[in-house]
Amino acid sequence: MTAATSAPVDQYVVAGNPVGHSRSPEIHAAFARQTGQSLHYDRLLCPLDGFEASLRGFVAGGGRGCNITVPFKFEAFRLAARHTPRAALAGAVNTMRFDEGAWLGDNTDGAGLVADIERNARRPLRGLRVLLIGAGGASAGVLGSFIAGRPAQVRVVNRSADKAHALIASHQAFAAEHGVQLSAGGLDEVGDAHDVLINGTSASLSGAGVPLPDRDAPVLVRGGVAVDMMYGPSAAPFLDWARAQAGDAGEMRDGLGMLVEQAAEAFFLWRGVRPDSARVLANLRAGREADA
Ligand code: ATR
Repeated sequence: MTAATSAPVDQYVVAGNPVGHSRSPEIHAAFARQTGQSLHYDRLLCPLDGFEASLRGFVAGGGRGCNITVPFKFEAFRLAARHTPRAALAGAVNTMRFDEGAWLGDNTDGAGLVADIERNARRPLRGLRVLLIGAGGASAGVLGSFIAGRPAQVRVVNRSADKAHALIASHQAFAAEHGVQLSAGGLDEVGDAHDVLINGTSASLSGAGVPLPDRDAPVLVRGGVAVDMMYGPSAAPFLDWARAQAGDAGEMRDGLGMLVEQAAEAFFLWRGVRPDSARVLANLRAGREADA
């Protein structure tokens, strides 16, 4: 009689601090069931001074890949031996694949956000005027993907204007290749109204509300698109403010679509198959099980 042998199930995690709130496990479990992939996806709470040790422990135990969330995306960039071009441009990593001997760092945040706007909301970016508010890790992760969508221009504004200038400086060559005009300034230097407004600050999370100062002229055109990278109720103040300018034809989105789409990109990097992300997003929005 031969004993049945089964290969250990491939392990993935979302690594961060905190991670208890993360919806990534249910999203990846749904992708795995949809595509018939055998894997297990969990949360990995890493001590603030122990990210590398936590990852090494996970890999030693059979870990194949991970997503990275706050506050480790820059440290993950430094730990990866190789980077995809979009991670190199962002200088930050949200997805790793533990290839033998050389960890690969990718950044799927920007592709996820752009997919949510262009595919899910059916709003192509080409030729539009985009305002990206914030110049921290979240904005750094997505600026390159916006440029790749070939809008007419992207303006980055931030509370500390020097960080906005530094962020566009690292993307100028890429923008020139794509014929996109980049500019930067402080929060009170928004300029004329834009077609697309992205809140990449942590103001929503901290309850500070709309990050821009009051002004008489609109920031968003009628019928425009606004996205807050946060999801859930914390996105409401920013989206309500944007809706008042865009009107009924406007498109308001919290970060849930971005979350599902960046997860789908990560799943593809790890498994080589594309899940039906639109169905998972529709289920989550309707309050159903992710793979209903
Ligand atoms: P993350 O990784 O979430 O982007 P981060 O790198 O700390 O976090 O960046 C937070 C961003 O939110 C920054 O752009 C920050 O502005 P500063 O660079 O000037 O600090 C912005 N931010 C945070 N709280 C804000 C507030 N109340 N109003 C406006 N911008 C805010």
